[in-house]
Amino acid sequence: METRTTEVADGIYQFTTYVPEADFSFNQYLVTGEEPLLFHTGGRGLFPLVSEAVGRVVPVDTLRWISFGHVESDECGSMNQWLAAAPRATVAHNITACLVSLNDLADREPRALADGDVLDIGGHRIRWIDTPHVPHAWEAGVIYDETTRTLFCGDLFTHGGNNPASTDGDIMGPTIAAEDLFHYSSLTPASGATVRRLADLDVVTLALMHGPAFGGDCHTALLDLAGGYDKRIADAG
Ligand SMILES: [Fe+2]
Ligand SMILES: [Fe+2]
Repeated sequence: METRTTEVADGIYQFTTYVPEADFSFNQYLVTGEEPLLFHTGGRGLFPLVSEAVGRVVPVDTLRWISFGHVESDECGSMNQWLAAAPRATVAHNITACLVSLNDLADREPRALADGDVLDIGGHRIRWIDTPHVPHAWEAGVIYDETTRTLFCGDLFTHGGNNPASTDGDIMGPTIAAEDLFHYSSLTPASGATVRRLADLDVVTLALMHGPAFGGDCHTALLDLAGGYDKRIADAG
C-alpha cells in the first residue's frame, strides 16, 4: 500500500490510502497554518504510512490539533500515536465525544468544542459543527474551513473503491451505491434537516473521507443528500 498526497484546496492536503482487500480508501486531511490541524487520523495500522506522508508536508511534531468526525477506528484509531509523535497536539472534538469517550480514550486531555465554535489556527478559521447521528454516531460532527470554504464532511458521500483525488463529476451515484451496500447512515427524523443546514454554508469543496474531494456544485449535492435521506425514511415508513 502507499499513501497519495494531494493539495486539494489552498493549504489543505489530502492523504489517501487505498486498501485493496477492502476495496475501500481512507483519506486524512491536513490544514496547514501556524497551528496545523489533522482531520481523521486513520487506523493504528496506517500510522506509519500516513505519518510519513504528513511529515513530507509539515514536521509531524508541529501538529497542534487533531480532530475527526466521530469515534471509530478509521477516524481516530491512531489518535494516541499522533499525540505521542506531536507533543504540542491536542485532540479537538465536541462536548459529547469528550464526555462519552475521549476524556477516557485520549492520552492527553482533549479540547471540547461547542457547536459553532471556531479554532483560528493562523491562516485558516475552522468551525466545528455538530451533526448528531449524521451519518452515524451520537457525537458526530464535521468541520468547516471558513477561509477556503472547505467542508470536511467525513463519512458523508462515502464512495467505495479506488478514487481520484478530486472530481467535479457525479458524486451522488457512488454515494447511493455505497449506502445501499453498507447501510452506514443512521437515519433519524432530523437527518435531512441536519444536512440542509450544511447546504447553507456556501461550500466550495467537499472533502470526503472515503472518496474524492468534490469541487462541483456542493450546495446541490448536499440538498440531494438530504432529499435522499428524507426519501429513505419515508420509504421505510
Ligand atoms: Fe464512520
Ligand atoms: Fe470513515
